Amino acid sequence: MVQDKNILVCVSGGIAVYKACDLVSKLTQRGAHVKVLMTESATKFVSPLTFQALSQNPVYTDTFDEKDPEKIAHIDLADWADLCVIAPATAHIIGVLANGLADTMLPTTLLATKAPIYIAPAMNVHMYDHPAVIKNMLQLTEWGYKFIEPGAGYLACGYVGKGRLEEPQTIIQVIENQINQKQLLNHKRILISAGPTIESVDPVRYFTNHSTGKMGFALAEKAAELGADVTLVAGPVNQRLQNNSIERIDVTSAQEMYEAIHERFSTADIVIKAAAVADYRPKVAHTEKMKKNSSDLSIEFERTIDILQTLGEQKTNQFLVGFAAETTDPITHGIDKIKRKHLDAIVVNDVSEEGAGFGGDTNIVTYITKDHQKIPFGLDSKEGIANSILKQIATDLTKKDDK
Ligand code: PMT
Repeated sequence: MVQDKNILVCVSGGIAVYKACDLVSKLTQRGAHVKVLMTESATKFVSPLTFQALSQNPVYTDTFDEKDPEKIAHIDLADWADLCVIAPATAHIIGVLANGLADTMLPTTLLATKAPIYIAPAMNVHMYDHPAVIKNMLQLTEWGYKFIEPGAGYLACGYVGKGRLEEPQTIIQVIENQINQKQLLNHKRILISAGPTIESVDPVRYFTNHSTGKMGFALAEKAAELGADVTLVAGPVNQRLQNNSIERIDVTSAQEMYEAIHERFSTADIVIKAAAVADYRPKVAHTEKMKKNSSDLSIEFERTIDILQTLGEQKTNQFLVGFAAETTDPITHGIDKIKRKHLDAIVVNDVSEEGAGFGGDTNIVTYITKDHQKIPFGLDSKEGIANSILKQIATDLTKKDDK
């Protein structure tokens, strides 16, 4: 799996540096192109020459050691890497990264890369348990860094516990799983919608719904992790994307969402509409604040465009997936929407069910295929549900391509 992949191995200074030699050797033997970047303290444990011989490439240690005047070494390295792994990662380098510092070549390069970054920590058991280290690891996890947990056992410092650098074989296994996953939706162009829409009554009042965008954002992040080129069209939400390769387009109303999606529809391979789009909007959006008076108020509504239905009517080869938020009989309503909106699949959630639907971090859904096969995904985090949905879409796409 690692054959011909560009892997940047970043080595920080701890006794486990000797294991990084084995890691580099094994990756190279498997056909990966490996470059090694060391901190100065790592060079106190093992000489750069060892890594140079094992990787068959020059080793980088100093931001200012610019070997090629036509290139800026750390940017060149950041762009070159398909994947980066820090092994061993000390408490210090984890802290540096969690604070966004660029004081040496290793963190500077990692700040500049768009490749996924794996961190394999190695340190004393008490250091690993320290709240500062835990806080830094949580921060990095939130930013999308992936941790390869250390193993437990005898540590060089004399303690027995968690803190031993994971074995090179296991680190490679994790890397291979990542590459394997990435091939699932490799370079498929996915268009995803998320969040609610806002329909104005006047400059201070509007109609909307309870969608927070969590489900759609989880789909976008997972799709990017599985190798897709993702565009996310988001209604007004408070969500942040971790993966900066995702193109994000912010919209407000159903009409704006339609325009953003319609513009990109012809070049999409897969479209997933997780947004909760308003079905109606006030017939008149007043330009000035409506003044109250003593009588009741009636507002006349008109239909918004049904984006999904329009896409269903226009689709050529796109795989079109809708969502349905229901409170009764979700399967029947879901099947009805597949037919009416010409969908390839629909994901139904009963939003009155505990743990499902709007706002929370979890969902419970049933994925229904075009031929009405029902695949339930039980209570799981929205990330887990997104993963299951996308894997199912990848399976359905393969079947479609085989026909
Ligand atoms: O955002 P969260 O807080 O995480 O909540 C997630 C969710 C509940 C919003 C999500 O899981 C979900 O169910 N999204 C679809 C909500 C919805 O609008 O369902 P619907 O049954 O009203 O619409 C059916 C489909 O038609 C949806 O794909 C919707 O995007 C689409 N639609 C609806 C109306 C419209 N005018 N245009 C559309 O494209």
